[in-house]
Amino acid sequence: MKGYVILISVVAALGGLLFGFDTAVISGTINFIQPYFGLSEAGLGWTVSSLLFGCIAGVFLAGKAGDRYGRKKVLMMAALLFFISAVGSASAHSLIFFLFARILGGLAVGVASILSPMYIAELAPARYRGTLVSLNQLAIVVGILVAFFSNYLLVNTGENNWRWMLLVMAAPAILLYFSLFLVPESPRWLVARGRNKDALRVLVKTSGSEFSSAQLHEIEETLRNQEESTYRDLLAPKIKPLLFIGIILAVFQQITGINTIMYYAPKIFANVGQSNASALVQTILIGGTNLIFTLVAMALIDRFGRKLLIIIGSTGMMIMLAGLSVLYFTNQTSSIWLLVFILGYIAFFAASLGPALWVVAAELFPNRLRSKGMSVAIVSLWIACAVVSIAFPIMLEKLSGGITFLIFALICLTNLLYVLNFVPETKGKTLEELEKHFAE
Ligand code: BGC
Repeated sequence: MKGYVILISVVAALGGLLFGFDTAVISGTINFIQPYFGLSEAGLGWTVSSLLFGCIAGVFLAGKAGDRYGRKKVLMMAALLFFISAVGSASAHSLIFFLFARILGGLAVGVASILSPMYIAELAPARYRGTLVSLNQLAIVVGILVAFFSNYLLVNTGENNWRWMLLVMAAPAILLYFSLFLVPESPRWLVARGRNKDALRVLVKTSGSEFSSAQLHEIEETLRNQEESTYRDLLAPKIKPLLFIGIILAVFQQITGINTIMYYAPKIFANVGQSNASALVQTILIGGTNLIFTLVAMALIDRFGRKLLIIIGSTGMMIMLAGLSVLYFTNQTSSIWLLVFILGYIAFFAASLGPALWVVAAELFPNRLRSKGMSVAIVSLWIACAVVSIAFPIMLEKLSGGITFLIFALICLTNLLYVLNFVPETKGKTLEELEKHFAE
């Protein structure tokens, strides 16, 4: 694989790192911003979820702007937004200002959540596309881990500790902005804009000179005589089924419960009387497991395919969640099995649905509609994410842990059946071959 392609993917994946960091950093600031801004419990809930509203808007923005101005320029804009959000939220003296800064960060997360994986998919050679797009998931996971760590390190820096925690994000934002100058625009986007010579130059560097002309030709074919796309085009008979697959997989990635653990692990441990296990240990165990098994997915995804990984992963997640449910029903939540099931669940997610959803979502749609199709799928992901994060504490309290985790286990089973029957395998083929295949 060419070093150049790896460089491009690493730069784009910095967008994923900021996505992970920004969604996770808030957890460490909660105990300090709540008294500072005088927030009630409900007010805190809104403040924390303000980011998600920004995300939803950001995904739509990226869908449109990514087509008009190019993937690279819009990612640069996201880097600036991340920077402004970091400095703004860190220096906020009023709640309104703080919320505004967090929503701007959310916009950036939304943009990065689709443009980073999409941009990598559009630049990567078919054989390695799964691994390279999964690099973005690896970066998300690292971003989450870095946020937890830096929060931990900064917690004792006095009354401005939460400001420092939020300010940290300015550094990777600057890095993303400047490193984007090193990478080219997506060849697929260049062709869509009629800049075929520029596209060829990029393809020579990413795919090698022997394949580049043929590839350019294939891309031109898929974009020939096509007018500028609209969201309505996603409802065309050949595209609609792909749109459904994208939306359903994205929603399943969230409603199988990953963020109940990622966002609420300390609460789960505290609820079952294990609050003395230090937050750091839990973070290392959960973050470390997530990281290691994302690497496993990266090694396997182009060999075994996306579908097999999701099938194995969903089965494993289901078993782990059923195990958690039994622990709650039988009052054995203080046993070591709690940790085993939680870590097992994270491992199966990280090796399957975690990266595979982003890979498939970036591969499903034809060149002309990729940006818009992916944005609709990923908006559904963010809405599902918001619903699950708001519902989970209520479910735990009203339904008990046993029923809550049983419900998540059944959702994994549904996901498994859905993937077995409806999700196509996308490994190994170029985006243009996939496009032809789906159009038949
Ligand atoms: C999901 C996030 C999740 C993260 C955890 C991502 O693929 O979309 O919601 O927090 O994985 O690793």
